[in-house]
Amino acid sequence: MKIGTISDYINVKTIIIFTIQFILILTLVGYPAWKDRGEECLKCHSDMQKMTKLGYPQFYVTQEMIEKQGKHPNVRCQECHLGNPRATDVQKAHEGMLSVLLISEKGEVLNRRDLYPKPLIPSGDDMIRNLLPQVEYEGKLYPHPDIRNVLWHDRDPITFNYDPAITKKTCGKSNCHPQEAKEFHTTIMATNFRQRTMTTWLKPYGPQN
Ligand code: HEC
Ligand code: HEC
Repeated sequence: MKIGTISDYINVKTIIIFTIQFILILTLVGYPAWKDRGEECLKCHSDMQKMTKLGYPQFYVTQEMIEKQGKHPNVRCQECHLGNPRATDVQKAHEGMLSVLLISEKGEVLNRRDLYPKPLIPSGDDMIRNLLPQVEYEGKLYPHPDIRNVLWHDRDPITFNYDPAITKKTCGKSNCHPQEAKEFHTTIMATNFRQRTMTTWLKPYGPQN
């Protein structure tokens, strides 16, 4: 008596088709994980000689530095910054990468490289404007005349609003803080609840209050 019919279909052609399908599925599913495991950001940024040669020793960053500063053990560059951690070329690696937004007086994102390639570290005595890029004039520090504001990279670069889509790909991704992200998105702050629920322009208080 014959049990099952699968063996009837096994021949060279079906084995080839099956193998190709298997490889295809593995590639499609595995590619993002493979890409995300890249270490090129770190290899370049933690090589002082290389960074100096590229003209940016101020952006020398090591794994120890980010773990200590960010208080996140085992976190990798791309988990916060995105970009392409498999690319060895600066431009390609930085494609789609998130970084600080320097905003002009007109409300546009400025090109940091042209305007202020220095590191962003607190400077000057003015505590409120401490982290704004500064320029020196006659021995004193002043806020950079072309830079109105500094925003961190959780913002949409056009509207400058907080962008939940960025959080989902970074802090809030499944093996990091998905619960915190979900909770945050329903808070009074994230929903701008007070302003959204105003019913009049003026009374008892309005959105321009
Ligand atoms: C081959 C070297 C190289 C690689 C690879 C590389 N970088 Fe960079 N990175 C640089 C250099 C040089 C600069 C300064 C010039 C510039 O901004 O393009 C820089 C600048 C930056 C900045 C500051 C940019 C700004 O405008 O504020 C961040 C953030 C950064 N890199 C993160 C990353 C991340 C994340 C990766 C991996 C996805 C990465 N880098 C891969 C060399 C590299
Ligand atoms: C825990 C999240 C996190 C990780 C991990 C991380 N960064 Fe950053 N990094 C930031 C934030 C936030 C800033 C502030 C500017 C911004 O909003 O992007 C920043 C700023 C920078 C800057 C600009 C510094 C300056 O003076 O303006 C560079 C360069 C940089 N990161 C490179 C890296 C590299 C390379 C790695 C991996 C070795 C890395 N970062 C890992 C969150 C992170």
